[in-house]
Amino acid sequence: MYLSREEEGIYQGEKGETLRRMMEILVALGDIYGAERLVPVRSVQVAGVSYKNIGEAGLEWISDLKGQVAVPSILNPAGMDLCRWKEMGITEQFALKQQETIEAYRKLGVTIDCTCTPYQIYDLASRGDHLAWSESSAVSYANSVIGARTNREGGPSALASALVGKTALYGYHLDEFRRPTFLVEVDADLQGSDYGALGFLVGRIVKDGIPFFRLRGAPTGDELKALGASMAASGSVALYYVEDVTPAPPAWQAEERISIGRKEIDEVYAANSGEDADAVALGCPHCSSEELEKIAGLLKGRTVEKTLWVCTAKKIAEAHPDLVRTIEESGARVFCDTCMVVSPATERFAKMMVNSGKALAYLPGLGKVKAGLGTMEECINVSLGRR
Ligand code: F3S
Repeated sequence: MYLSREEEGIYQGEKGETLRRMMEILVALGDIYGAERLVPVRSVQVAGVSYKNIGEAGLEWISDLKGQVAVPSILNPAGMDLCRWKEMGITEQFALKQQETIEAYRKLGVTIDCTCTPYQIYDLASRGDHLAWSESSAVSYANSVIGARTNREGGPSALASALVGKTALYGYHLDEFRRPTFLVEVDADLQGSDYGALGFLVGRIVKDGIPFFRLRGAPTGDELKALGASMAASGSVALYYVEDVTPAPPAWQAEERISIGRKEIDEVYAANSGEDADAVALGCPHCSSEELEKIAGLLKGRTVEKTLWVCTAKKIAEAHPDLVRTIEESGARVFCDTCMVVSPATERFAKMMVNSGKALAYLPGLGKVKAGLGTMEECINVSLGRR
């Protein structure tokens, strides 16, 4: 891989051991994937934040690094609400380790906002920008809806990009790897969590392919967020297109066609009922302002009978104290900086009902809890003890 004189100097250790190690990671990835060179990134989103996932080895690795990030960098959700962890049922021992992890990132200059929807709170990406983002739903949204360019980075490679300010130019950074491989025709009127169910189905079929959707209507930003998130979890889709909605793809020809109707969407709900859940969680990916408003409207004046978590970015919650108050007056909790999948607090439940195809796919394995799927309204009804 070609390195400029400055990059070569970093690679040789002229700017210290941390940058040398970070450059080594970027060059190793570039060599594996045949990158010609490095490219500057506009922003970085770093995974590997929940202590539940990284453990002691990960914490030591991060704590060992020195220096400051070269570009705006933000974190993925942590294993707990950084302020209200006790209310989640997190142990003191875990909280200390999680706080240590956050402090290690803070020392490197990473912005301490822990969210999978950084695009909802900061201006970090525009069409055509190169990025180094980690979390699969954020990667999908950046590539597909914003039209920026990022591979799905692991924690170490994202941090390497944050400190160096560059990434290796391969994969989704290049037009030739951004051509659709499947045409997906959907003959149904969809809304809300239907997009999560659709993504759950399509991700399983296309795996790491690039679907091009022909839909009946135009999904909202939140619906696109849900669609991308579930395809990234049931498959490993990092880029998709929706005809006349998302930025258009480079010239392409479909290798395969898929047809999906209402029946297939309804089968996803039927096969994953959540009515017997003992807890409900909304906000995968993290809730937008609009979603908080909708949840507040559904809960206003009511009292939940089951645990109901609403996960969002702290900045979104802080911008809407009235909505948070309305939601919490029902007995539900709005937790920030974390989510039902990456927090160990989920493990005490037997079954969790969600309105997210991604959480449905990940909760049994990563959250060690059974999962059921419903619309936002159905989830809230279950939390209220209504059938
Ligand atoms: Fe975000 Fe957690 Fe879902 S990181 S996309 S809320 S699994």
